[in-house]
Amino acid sequence: MATIAPPREMEKTEWTRSPSAHEALQKHFEENPDAMPEHPHKWDTSRSDIYAEHRWQPIFKEMRAEGPLHYIPESPFGPYWSVVGHKAIQHVEALPELFSSSWEHGGITILERLDDEDVEEGQERFELPMFIAMDRPKHTGQRRTVAPAFTPTEMKRMEDEIRQRTGETLDGLPKGEVFNWVEKVSIPLTTGMLAILFDFPWEDRDLLTFWSDWSGDTELMLAGQGMEDTRRGIQREMAAYFQQLWAKKSQEEPGQDLISMMIHSPAMNQMSPQEFMGNLVLLIVGGNDTTRNTMSGIIHALDKFPDQRKLFEKQPDLIPNAVQECIRYQTPLKHMRRTCSEDTELFGQQIKKGDKVVLWYNSANRDEDVFENADKLDLTRENARRHLAFGYGIHRCVGARLAELQLRVLLEEMHARRMRVHVAGDVERVRANFVEGFRTLEVEVTHF
Ligand code: HEM
Repeated sequence: MATIAPPREMEKTEWTRSPSAHEALQKHFEENPDAMPEHPHKWDTSRSDIYAEHRWQPIFKEMRAEGPLHYIPESPFGPYWSVVGHKAIQHVEALPELFSSSWEHGGITILERLDDEDVEEGQERFELPMFIAMDRPKHTGQRRTVAPAFTPTEMKRMEDEIRQRTGETLDGLPKGEVFNWVEKVSIPLTTGMLAILFDFPWEDRDLLTFWSDWSGDTELMLAGQGMEDTRRGIQREMAAYFQQLWAKKSQEEPGQDLISMMIHSPAMNQMSPQEFMGNLVLLIVGGNDTTRNTMSGIIHALDKFPDQRKLFEKQPDLIPNAVQECIRYQTPLKHMRRTCSEDTELFGQQIKKGDKVVLWYNSANRDEDVFENADKLDLTRENARRHLAFGYGIHRCVGARLAELQLRVLLEEMHARRMRVHVAGDVERVRANFVEGFRTLEVEVTHF
């Protein structure tokens, strides 16, 4: 096993006392209106205003009507290819050698990796290697260390605890008043679950949300060096925190939590300390805002489509399919990115080695060739499971079963309490081209 630093006292520093990523970004753009990125190309869907204002659907629809793949020559993230069709995304993801995920080529988001000469003087490059951003064979070995935590047997073992925690959260909700569902339900349920899965210190679980938000916001990286320094500082501190946790756990008896499983897995021999840290961050942070935002998305969608809410109330046997449909409808991660590893032809277009290829899952999940009346939530949709919100191929989400379990239990426990949740106040969406979600969702609860 790789060497590790000795444990030190876990302490909060200036970074964990920073404002949330959203607040910092808002303040930055208020103070520097000229820093707002410009998006001259009409099909440049890397712009975040279309998501904040929820008007992205017609843009992708227009693109899909013209073809599955389009070149966007100019964007704040540089030129890129947009893959917008369901079939086309599956095609690209089925060729992981040709379309690389590797962080050395640029990784999995639309962001550019800094060239060595662009790394500020006096700054070292800070990157956490994670298996989501690796190609075979490295990816295979590292994925194997965590996959056993998400088998159907493991999910069964966890279900009672998830149910109990979900029930307690729902029972503790304010009665007869408007409250923010994100804050009272989506965040505590997801962070609580991840804290249990990883045996993460319970009293620090709010940090998971804080880190997740500072990691998943691509716009932060456009906001200039000051903001980038804060982000890097926060990420460094997150890595240091996980390093301490790792050091502490490696001195304890093997347990059933995921960190312990990783530490004692034979495949650990294949990981450097940075890779171990990167993978921990991937699991804890990656599983966080995705599930959280789907928990909010379900409530918003059921309120928007009252006929479907009635159906849910009358027919609880629809819940497993409702989970798939809500994930399709919400698509909490909008895109993954690949980099082309050699010149090739794709759907009649010439793609060059090094070109950036962005897979828009939000568009695939509204592709009318696959999903009839795709902009509508339909809990009885027969092919809801064909959504690509978890990706496809060798990188398909390893935590999908856990996410599905949490969402199913949430709907079942809401149904058992005959809860009807109405949107009753402010709705604020996340302003980002990567994560799709809600910052605020004010609701009130009645009963059916
Ligand atoms: C990968 C979505 C929940 C851990 C991914 C990918 C997507 C995704 C789109 C990339 C797939 C690809 O490149 O083809 C989601 C959604 C979730 C969710 C929509 C919830 C609704 C979770 C949870 C965990 C998790 C709960 C763990 C606790 C991971 C990991 C990978 C991954 C480790 C990398 C897999 C690989 O590269 O082999 N997820 N995820 N995710 N997800 Fe999730």
